[in-house]
Amino acid sequence: MLDRIPSLGNRGEIHIGSIEELLEGLLPDKRVIVITDTAIDRLYSDLVRRFDYITVGYGEVNKNLQTVQNAYLRLMELGADRSTFLLGIGGGIVTDITGFVAATYMRGVDFGFVPTTLLGQVDAAIGGKNGVNVAEYKNMVGTFYQPRFVLLDVKLLSSLPPRELRAGMAEAIKAAVVGDRELFDFIRANASMQLFADRELMQWVVMRSVAVKCNIVELDEKEHGVRRLLNLGHTLGHAIEKCTHELNHGEAVAVGMVLMSRAAVSRGIMSKVDAESIESLFRSFDFDLEPPVAMAKILREVKYDKKKHGDKIRVVLPETIGRCRIEDLTFMEFEELFA
Ligand SMILES: NC(=O)c1ccc[n+]([C@@H]2O[C@H](COP(=O)([O-])OP(=O)(O)OC[C@H]3O[C@@H](n4cnc5c(N)ncnc54)[C@H](O)[C@@H]3O)[C@@H](O)[C@H]2O)c1
Repeated sequence: MLDRIPSLGNRGEIHIGSIEELLEGLLPDKRVIVITDTAIDRLYSDLVRRFDYITVGYGEVNKNLQTVQNAYLRLMELGADRSTFLLGIGGGIVTDITGFVAATYMRGVDFGFVPTTLLGQVDAAIGGKNGVNVAEYKNMVGTFYQPRFVLLDVKLLSSLPPRELRAGMAEAIKAAVVGDRELFDFIRANASMQLFADRELMQWVVMRSVAVKCNIVELDEKEHGVRRLLNLGHTLGHAIEKCTHELNHGEAVAVGMVLMSRAAVSRGIMSKVDAESIESLFRSFDFDLEPPVAMAKILREVKYDKKKHGDKIRVVLPETIGRCRIEDLTFMEFEELFA
């Protein structure tokens, strides 16, 4: 049943399977220092405490340069040098911080990831993009720096709260809409919160989502072109995250994707049937798809952001399930999509 994940060539290997069986063989013959968060340290101390380790605080507020500096200082205290291997074990916050620290500590050290959230496994740990926030601006500084390996073990997801599982499912559905109709149909055929308990099915979902991302990153590692497709739902999603802390990243992206699908229908780009399929798939996982604040407020946030990033807004619009397009719109044109 399982297909292969395309390789990222010399830009890191992705492995799917059990940590117990695979991790040791993947680690280089070097000193390893783990970067993780306190929740993972508590839940998986046997794994974390096999090595020297550094913990970062959890939550988006800690994904910043202060945390990065603290990690550098701790690495120096531990005597880490250029031959040290960093292992990020955690969700997207941990892997984003670890990737950035690895890319910059002593001008770059090798690193690997064991992502522990569904969002991390299908998205954040894949593709070599890392970054931290500056003030309220998300991912404003970062690098493209590929890990030596990413080890995906879906059994780690069993300790994840339902809300975090759902957030990861939003990114898996995004991957399906961007580039894999079969994945969409597969998730739809198994769509309920029960899916998360089935490791074999989850492994398939993770693998196919990762394959969509790898295929795109292979073509455009530095996000000059097609990689932007992976931002489907994110312009609005990020704006929603700024307006309210009530939704997590995946939940905000789900609302963003549904709004973009409706916009695509109103522009005659996507069929109503496809847009409704996307919406109903999210509903099967109990997503609340109503914008949590007034649309005008979300659009104001997009406009404010746009002022900081240039004239046009780069928008990803779905054409059908499995294919999207990128358009550059003025703010007025963007606003009209939601009139
Ligand atoms: N670099 C990229 O390409 C990329 C892509 C998508 C998202 N991201 C970033 O990822 C971040 C979000 O990542 P996330 O959703 O994984 O959030 P997260 O890292 O904050 O993890 C969510 C929560 O789950 C806990 N947790 C993690 N693994 C667990 C487990 N196995 N069992 C129980 N609890 C566990 C964490 O301690 C945390 O409290 C955002 O900052 C986003 O910008 C980056």
